[in-house]
Amino acid sequence: MLERIADRHGHRFDFDERLVGGAAIDATGQPLPADTVAACRDSHAVLLGAVGGPKWSDPGAAVRPEQGLLALRAVLGVFANLRPVRVIDELRAASPIRADLLDGVDLIVVRELTGGIYFGDKHRDADSATDVCTYQVHEIERILHVAARLARSRRGRLCSVDKANVLETSRLWRETTDRLIATEYPDITLETLLVDAAAMHLLSRPADFDVIVTENMFGDILTDEASMLAGSLGLLPSASLGDSKRGLYEPIHGSAPDIAGRGTANPTATIMSVAMLLRHSLSLDEEALAIESAVRTAITKGARTADIATDGETALSTDQFTEAVLAEL
Ligand SMILES: NC(=O)c1ccc[n+]([C@@H]2O[C@H](COP(=O)([O-])OP(=O)(O)OC[C@H]3O[C@@H](n4cnc5c(N)ncnc54)[C@H](O)[C@@H]3O)[C@@H](O)[C@H]2O)c1
Repeated sequence: MLERIADRHGHRFDFDERLVGGAAIDATGQPLPADTVAACRDSHAVLLGAVGGPKWSDPGAAVRPEQGLLALRAVLGVFANLRPVRVIDELRAASPIRADLLDGVDLIVVRELTGGIYFGDKHRDADSATDVCTYQVHEIERILHVAARLARSRRGRLCSVDKANVLETSRLWRETTDRLIATEYPDITLETLLVDAAAMHLLSRPADFDVIVTENMFGDILTDEASMLAGSLGLLPSASLGDSKRGLYEPIHGSAPDIAGRGTANPTATIMSVAMLLRHSLSLDEEALAIESAVRTAITKGARTADIATDGETALSTDQFTEAVLAEL
């Protein structure tokens, strides 16, 4: 995809492939080798394949693939994970949600990515386990700034999701949100929802949402749910951004071990992540739009992978679907 964009638009991209996750554990014993970190730091953008799988899922293992991904997000300082969710009209039938509820769905989840329970101290003994969830005010403020600026550039609506009726971190999250939005973004309409209610509203009135901001674990879970609005987990891309233009781009899905090796995975999430890379890290907006439009046109003309094929539609392989998108480029 990037080579085609380079040819068409007169750019040159230098690619450097490095290991992370299970493949890195197999080769080096570490889920995030030092040379991978150095290469990522040295790049304008990082495009990541998913990590993990049954081979490395032994609960007693000292090293796990997912540690590599969390560590990479942390070392790159990419605290803001942008996860857009749009419904493509031709794919409504692929969604388990009633078609009339999908009208006008165009939302983006801004997930805090380098704090919260995924990064807190962990403890395990024979009959108990602990995961600590911590948030600092500055971590909440900086993600709110990203989300509020985004809301300002879109429909001006921000929904903050927390669990303030139970969790202390969520009470801090809500107080910080109420204060910051009232003082610095009074033009934005703020709604706050408890995460359990948000999980329901996301399906019962998805078109009402514009920008949703939430903490790490809630964002992880809600976006897998939101992928069902679009029709498949294989459709949703993401961009993880920090204070610089360097970003980390990845599909929101995992390594899909249940279909691994068959050549049937939907490449859309990764292709759309490439578009986000071009837009956010390289400021190549026209090129990003060209990719997004090629994906939409290929789908409009009938290109489907197995996860989004309905009513007897022929499913293309991953390679064939990619060719169909390239043909539109
Ligand atoms: N960012 C990441 O690297 C990431 C994210 C989530 C899970 N994981 C890891 O992936 C492994 C599998 O986890 P899981 O099964 O819970 O989640 P998963 O996202 O890999 O798969 C969930 C379901 O969605 C389907 N799916 C996912 N991507 C698809 C695609 N592109 N096309 C078609 N169908 C697709 C899968 O076949 C599966 O049925 C675990 O080891 C987990 O830790 C990694």
